[in-house]
Amino acid sequence: MQAERLQKILSKAGITSRRKAEGLILQGRVSVNGKIVRELGTKAVLGRDEIRVDGKTIKPEAEGVVLVLFKPRRCVTTLHDPQGRRTVADFVNKFPMRLYPVGRLDYDAEGLLLLTNDGELAHRLQHPRYKVPKTYLVKVRGHPPAEALASLQQGVNLEDGITAPAELIVMEDDQKATWLSLTLREGRKHQVKRMCAAVGHPVLRLRRTKVGPIELDDLRPGEIRRLKSREVRSLRKNVGLKGD
Ligand code: URA
Repeated sequence: MQAERLQKILSKAGITSRRKAEGLILQGRVSVNGKIVRELGTKAVLGRDEIRVDGKTIKPEAEGVVLVLFKPRRCVTTLHDPQGRRTVADFVNKFPMRLYPVGRLDYDAEGLLLLTNDGELAHRLQHPRYKVPKTYLVKVRGHPPAEALASLQQGVNLEDGITAPAELIVMEDDQKATWLSLTLREGRKHQVKRMCAAVGHPVLRLRRTKVGPIELDDLRPGEIRRLKSREVRSLRKNVGLKGD
């Protein structure tokens, strides 16, 4: 095992960025084998030395990091945009590890976007074979009649084939629009918009609220939370990966 600088160890363990870790060290909040360390050049070995921050022992990152971002509208789900629009990288750059968005959400759509450094988990969450359910709160123009609702549920004929059965709940309607909750187990490009347009009720607003067992909960646009180990395990189990 190779000795590394403390600030590098803390950032790799997902505690904070390297620069902020330096601050923690200078503030005397980091100890190695029971001794407070204030020297920025100090090296240690995670797993061999006992490293603590504010008295709490740091464990090696045993699993991937998964973040939930409430992607706001007018933001692209890539890490870089040639057109210079806001990207999700602007929200997650405070995390030291390289994180990749899982799937996409349209520029004008909002809601739950997972980001992770766990490549296999990201791959499986997007692969049609695993049929991971994704729930959307959708505002559509007008009031879809029973036949339109039945089509959305049973299958809509799109140019790339009939859509798989979906779960549908009519949440609310007002004078000019209807809010639907739509749960899909496939993820074609612009699928919700294309399905609703095909039955004559174009989407006015789109928010993803759930992916597999993970929900937006109390997050607000632009806010992020890191999944707890228990949630990462449950997400991994959902796509046939070991929970630890
Ligand atoms: N369906 C869409 O049409 N757009 C999205 O962003 C996600 C699902």
